[in-house]
Amino acid sequence: MKFLKFSLLLFIATIAFSCVAPSENGAPQMIKTDVPERPAGQTDMLQFAAEPIPTVRVGFVGLGMRGPGAVQRFTHIPGVEIVALCDLRPERVDAAQEILRKAGFPEAAGYSGDVNSWKELVERDDIDLVYVATDWNSHAEIGVYAMENGKHVAIEVPAAMTLEQIWALVDTSERTRKHCMQLENCVYDFFELTTLNMAQQGVFGEIIHTEGSYIHELSAFWDSYWNNWRLDYNEKNRGDVYPTHGIGPAAQLLNIHRGDKMNYLVSVDTKPIVGPEIVKELYGREAPDFRNGDHTLTLIKTEKGKTINIQHNVMTPRPYSRMYQLTGTKGFANKYPVQGYAIQSGQVESEGIPNHEDLNAHSFVSEEVKTALMEKYKHPIHKELEEKAKTVGGHGGMDFIMDYRLVYCLQNGLPLDMDVYDLAEWCSLIPLTEISLDNGSVPVEIPDFTRGGWDKIDGLKFAY
Ligand SMILES: NC(=O)c1ccc[n+]([C@@H]2O[C@H](COP(=O)([O-])OP(=O)(O)OC[C@H]3O[C@@H](n4cnc5c(N)ncnc54)[C@H](O)[C@@H]3O)[C@@H](O)[C@H]2O)c1
Repeated sequence: MKFLKFSLLLFIATIAFSCVAPSENGAPQMIKTDVPERPAGQTDMLQFAAEPIPTVRVGFVGLGMRGPGAVQRFTHIPGVEIVALCDLRPERVDAAQEILRKAGFPEAAGYSGDVNSWKELVERDDIDLVYVATDWNSHAEIGVYAMENGKHVAIEVPAAMTLEQIWALVDTSERTRKHCMQLENCVYDFFELTTLNMAQQGVFGEIIHTEGSYIHELSAFWDSYWNNWRLDYNEKNRGDVYPTHGIGPAAQLLNIHRGDKMNYLVSVDTKPIVGPEIVKELYGREAPDFRNGDHTLTLIKTEKGKTINIQHNVMTPRPYSRMYQLTGTKGFANKYPVQGYAIQSGQVESEGIPNHEDLNAHSFVSEEVKTALMEKYKHPIHKELEEKAKTVGGHGGMDFIMDYRLVYCLQNGLPLDMDVYDLAEWCSLIPLTEISLDNGSVPVEIPDFTRGGWDKIDGLKFAY
């Protein structure tokens, strides 16, 4: 009976995704999704650099809870003109104009009142960068249209929700030669970037496993999202619908599409209990078909034999956590709930590090040693920006660093820190976890969005 059920599931999967790769003994074992062929004449965007833009002229679309903070941060970045502001609701544009007034910036052109007002902003000929912070469903359409209209685009997380949207962003970026960056801020946080620097200098040996998550109980926020888009998305869809804060730093540690690639994932989830209760509370109705489980777990295997564990839970009361953990052959780092390093003796030089003999992989190094390590391995980006970032703020400073780096790279004609393939890989967990869950947790192939270029770059590097 069980076997029949499994066969049926695989049969359904075969129809839906057209390709289930057979294992050595002939049994189907992995769902594969279609990888569209790269159109003739189109090339990849790996390490793509555009012509320098000394003054970056920006238009913002989406000024709800998140967008205005970005407007405010941009007023602190040198060489920026804020040309236009757009939100469906005119009062949100007015509030953002107020930010500009207070910062001594000229009033920007305002667009509002219609779901398509943003198109007028995008069509202007005096904008270099469109910065998108609308709800998830509208991200990809705005991104594609912006690139079609000759603009670079930066899109809040997740930048795309379906494989169709992801491939559309990849193809449009490759065809138009415009940057398409996902605004993943967590990769710039202080522990993460310092640890990445330590990892790249070999402190942890070879990294074999990384973890990340978005565990954030959102009860204080559910009724604040415009039109309740976030709860609705969770009601109608299943899977890790918000993976980028977890997978971003985890993928960077493993040099994904810079020498390694994610090959496949499997997901399991709990049943939805809190989700339907929130619907009842907010809408006064039952939600018997609520799709998303309260807690989702995903395991990923890479080409080079590494593993990644990603989790999502925005429903149950738990301390905020992005997990952020790495296991190396010679060391270990962990951010939540306890920040610390465990390092095999001899992995770091004693110079400048007190109590060298204390380094012991059986437990975290002392706070004193941790502080000294973090100082020694402070990332060049933090050395330059930490002080200002902490004054400007935005999740403790990481948001400012993200915006600053985006503008700096555009101004200097450098490749961006995160490219369209990072966007594609990190967002692909959304549709792919859903496929795995809806098919009995079978493995699902993670496409190579670089279409053959994943091994061309030797490790992640930030451009200066
Ligand atoms: N990186 C982070 O740390 C972080 C934190 C919070 C939110 N976010 C992301 O930012 C995005 C926005 O989230 P939020 O909390 O601000 O949501 P929100 O609902 O508060 O804001 C969305 C805004 O988009 C506007 N909007 C919707 N459709 C529009 C359209 N067609 N044209 C113009 N404006 C439109 C709405 O009026 C609203 O003001 C989401 O992708 C979210 O995941 C990221």
